[in-house]
Amino acid sequence: MCGIVGYTGSRQAYPVILKGLKRLEYRGYDSSGVALLKNGELNVYKKKGKVAELEEFMIGKNIDAQIGIGHTRWATHGEPSDRNAHPHHSANGKIAMIHNGIIENYALIKQDLVKKGYQFTSDTDTEVLLNFIEDIQTNNACSLEEAIRIALKRVTGAYCILIIEKDNPDTIIAARKGSPLVIGIGKGEHFLASDASPIIEYTKEVVYVNDYELAIVKPDELILKNLGNEKITPYVTKLDMELAAIEKGGYEHFMIKEIFEQPSTIFDCLRGRLDAKEGLIKMSGVDENIEHLMNANRIIIIACGTSWHAGLVAEYIIEELCRIPVEVEYASEFRYRNPIINKGDVIIAISQSGETADTIVALEKAKDNGAFIFGVVNAVGSSIARISNAGAYTHAGPEIGVASTKAFTGQLAVLMMVALDIAKHKGSITEEKYAELLNELESVPEKVDAILKNADQLKAIAEKYKSASDFLFLGRGYNFPVALEGALKLKEISYIHAEGYPAAEMKHGPIALVDENLPVVFIATKDLYHEKIISNMQEIKARKGKIISIITEGDNVSSEISNDYFCIPATDELIAPILTVIPLQLLSYYVGIAKGIDVDKPRNLAKSVTVE
Ligand code: AGP
Ligand code: GLU
Repeated sequence: MCGIVGYTGSRQAYPVILKGLKRLEYRGYDSSGVALLKNGELNVYKKKGKVAELEEFMIGKNIDAQIGIGHTRWATHGEPSDRNAHPHHSANGKIAMIHNGIIENYALIKQDLVKKGYQFTSDTDTEVLLNFIEDIQTNNACSLEEAIRIALKRVTGAYCILIIEKDNPDTIIAARKGSPLVIGIGKGEHFLASDASPIIEYTKEVVYVNDYELAIVKPDELILKNLGNEKITPYVTKLDMELAAIEKGGYEHFMIKEIFEQPSTIFDCLRGRLDAKEGLIKMSGVDENIEHLMNANRIIIIACGTSWHAGLVAEYIIEELCRIPVEVEYASEFRYRNPIINKGDVIIAISQSGETADTIVALEKAKDNGAFIFGVVNAVGSSIARISNAGAYTHAGPEIGVASTKAFTGQLAVLMMVALDIAKHKGSITEEKYAELLNELESVPEKVDAILKNADQLKAIAEKYKSASDFLFLGRGYNFPVALEGALKLKEISYIHAEGYPAAEMKHGPIALVDENLPVVFIATKDLYHEKIISNMQEIKARKGKIISIITEGDNVSSEISNDYFCIPATDELIAPILTVIPLQLLSYYVGIAKGIDVDKPRNLAKSVTVE
């Protein structure tokens, strides 16, 4: 997610804002900008790239002002560019705004504004909201504050906005729903930011603004209201976290923060796309290219690492629901082979960073052979997003920890919706199954939340097995790729050798490894393979292997056989991978911590492998 900073008071605003944006760089972003207001002059400066590039750009500019707003952007609508960076000017130039979040119904609002003659300088949803506010202010001849209230009652999505206007030279108006906002209270000055890291060096007295609240902030006055224009008494708290802790949202590491973000990141991924009540999935990238997708002779999924595991899950799901043959390829292998790519082939490219060199080259090769490319990417406007003919973003926000966690579950959620959308168009799924899966998918965020509440159970299991030299991870069907992912997580975070295997494969050799020193993690949720995997568990137990199992709540058979187990809520087997991976993420994290490893930056690894 992006970073937001605002200041109004007696200091020079620009240095406070610039330093604040630097404090927020850890959140991940692709561009930045600042708006400064003085003597009726509203100056907006913004650049694609790092804050340091903005700072360079600002040299020689008029930065004299005691009020301003600053932004680091993580693009969701409109690729990273100077013109899509924030702050945005309203059409009449009187207002500047920055925004963190997604306005879901921006397209309809934009259509209406274009009909009224509004022109847009960017591709962002943010500029649409800003001109919507201006349009309301003009038509209703009302105050900016009132216009903001009216507009926010009519938009859907998530926002934290800061707005300044020429006619109110010392006032910042802020509002939030779904994206964070903290206000620091100084003497004759106020600080606003996405979290307390830009504020803590000036004051420890803060107000955490709640959803559907609006703040009118002057140097010596803070008024809080709800959208019904009723005043709310601000609740002032004292910051008790150090800067380093604030950056990680109070968590010890980015990895655990991102694991715990998954209920909200999966919700963000489904937002505006899945409506179980209406029985609808709306994915423009799919719907606008449905002929390509539903008539594909074959789907080739190309990815690396964790993203490749997401591709394996998608293979099972797409073949089951869409009845289209699927192959999953390591990008690094595909690019050097002489693969057979036919015109009717569809490529699905999966990548968190969108910059993985092997995947990029593999896609260029496929595109040269006439394949249609659908990208499932987290970084908006990244190379892979741009190479793709169409796609769907995972909206997991910046993933800072090297080990991919929230991006993986975001990929699974997107791939599930893509498969369901295609199957619905193809008529290869019954209405009943379609409705059932939409409801199950919609319940995923709360089920992930329930799993995370029992995280301490994984901590205890990690403590018990942290000294093992090897692990096996076993699963069947949809959970086989999750076994591979669990093994990768443990390897890259704890440096313990681990292998993932189809559980039934053990008898073809690997079972020779089993003895009393070998922990074997079974993903054994209730599905059509359940009886079989219980037999596999018995095979391991008979050879004194230590069984750690991920099972469905109420499964007393598996728990009896296991040395340790962790229960997850029941769900459809196609949805299970999004849930079963969570305890494995936690297990790897707690083993890594128990071994004193820097889990956010494990040795030898890079977050994005942009080289061969
Ligand atoms: C996963 O935890 C690793 N960080 C790595 O395997 C990663 O998934 C792989 O490098 C692919 O990256 P991408 O999704 O950004 O393309
Ligand atoms: N949706 C807005 C954009 O794409 C804001 C993204 C953000 O939170 O940085 O510009």
